[in-house]
Amino acid sequence: MITFDFHSHILPGADHGARDREESRRILCTAKQAGIETIAATPHFYPHRHHVEGFLKRREEAYARLTEIRATEDVPEILLGAEVLACPGIDNMSGLDRLTLDGTQILLLEMPFVAAELTDELFETVERLIDECGYTVFMAHPNRYPDFCVDRMVAMGAKLQLNLEDICSFKEGRRAKRWVREGLVYAVGSDVHHDEKIYKSLKKADKVVSAALDRINDPLHA
Ligand SMILES: [Fe+2]
Repeated sequence: MITFDFHSHILPGADHGARDREESRRILCTAKQAGIETIAATPHFYPHRHHVEGFLKRREEAYARLTEIRATEDVPEILLGAEVLACPGIDNMSGLDRLTLDGTQILLLEMPFVAAELTDELFETVERLIDECGYTVFMAHPNRYPDFCVDRMVAMGAKLQLNLEDICSFKEGRRAKRWVREGLVYAVGSDVHHDEKIYKSLKKADKVVSAALDRINDPLHA
């Protein structure tokens, strides 16, 4: 079964995810009851809007708000990361290396949703992140993008992080299954913002990604 949630917005007030400590607590307790042992807290980082220093401070403060919950409730272990919006030239942004997951080289990248922004310049940036900067790039929720985008990311060496919602959806489930079959899936995330009911789909998702479970539950060694 899936025990590692690679993508979540559970830190209270860190982004437009969990609004307060109680919402975080509810999500975390539900995740644990559903079988999640480790959860990556990945608040949004928008390079055109945020500075690394300010982002890390906000993330730290949000994490500190969970100290009591972590000490007294049965919740998953929380690792700190970020969901970084890919922008052309982001490889030159100072402090990018501080946005990786839990001190690893793993960078969770969200591609832009506007097709016109999926430019050669952007893909070349991702290529440099992988080849020159040495990041292990995980592409967040590939189901939200056209095939050419996913194919190009995979060809450069990006690993796919599927969202529970997509794995279980009628429309996107087929693509998810194909990527699992092709050995491209390295992580699964709830991408939970507010609604802990997403963890109800874990059991169904388990079946779809069963061939990739070893990797999904140990993504830090990808
Ligand atoms: Fe997200």
